[in-house]
Amino acid sequence: MPDPMHFDGMADLYDRARPPYPDALWSRLGALGVLGSGTRVLELGAGSGLATAPMVAAGAAVTAVEPGPALADLLRRRVPEATVVEGTAESVPLDDAAFDLAVVATAVHWLDLDVVLPRLHRALVPGGHLAVWRHVFGDPTAPLTPFRERVAQIVRERGDVPPRPGPAELDTTGWVGRLTAGGWFAVRHVDELRWSVDLGADQVRDLFTTFSEWSDAEAEAAGRAVRDLGGRVTEHYLTPLLVLRRAGTPTR
Ligand SMILES: C[S@@+](CC[C@H](N)C(=O)[O-])C[C@H]1O[C@@H](n2cnc3c(N)ncnc32)[C@H](O)[C@@H]1O
Repeated sequence: MPDPMHFDGMADLYDRARPPYPDALWSRLGALGVLGSGTRVLELGAGSGLATAPMVAAGAAVTAVEPGPALADLLRRRVPEATVVEGTAESVPLDDAAFDLAVVATAVHWLDLDVVLPRLHRALVPGGHLAVWRHVFGDPTAPLTPFRERVAQIVRERGDVPPRPGPAELDTTGWVGRLTAGGWFAVRHVDELRWSVDLGADQVRDLFTTFSEWSDAEAEAAGRAVRDLGGRVTEHYLTPLLVLRRAGTPTR
């Protein structure tokens, strides 16, 4: 497992290089009635605020939990309307029934769900929701582009490590199982949002540098591949979105 504090050592780069979440995600959360003006949101693993800022813009009152001190500092400056709490999802003090919505954006991999799910169940009001989403950088269902062939080649050169992102990484069904284990939450809505973005060579190098499983040399090679392919590529990404309802009575 890569170091969860990996991102804190590159807070500014992370904030600059990671693409925003697609508009369709915010409309979907609004249409489901889980996010809107006055929603009390608890966000776990908020990073530099890529999800925090749009939620604040939608009128939500966001408490953002982030363990990395550099990221928490950047988040305070970037989204001053949010209440930023430095700590982990597993240990930060949380009031009972204080939130309408818990959000985990591209951070669920890092959480100990056996600890976090019962904590969220307590922190949410009855009828509250948990929304979990993330970027899959490289839609495994999209046609293979010349750039993605080069990415696969870079990954193959690692040796035994399986290529990623790929279908195994997408694993929406697996995440539904993990997030409903214990009976704390029940599925309300599952979506896979597909979108694309045009990136230049430096943007690709910077973005790939932020991936915890990519070395700097590999990210440089990805940037070189874009240059070889004419200087710009279209990347197809996918954002699985899982919205869960707080269960009335947990099974344990
Ligand atoms: C890939 S970043 C995502 C940041 C942000 N949510 C976003 O959408 O860009 C993962 C974040 O999870 C945080 N994190 C790692 N372990 C955590 C934990 N145990 N509790 C809360 N956050 C954690 C990291 O510090 C990092 O900010």
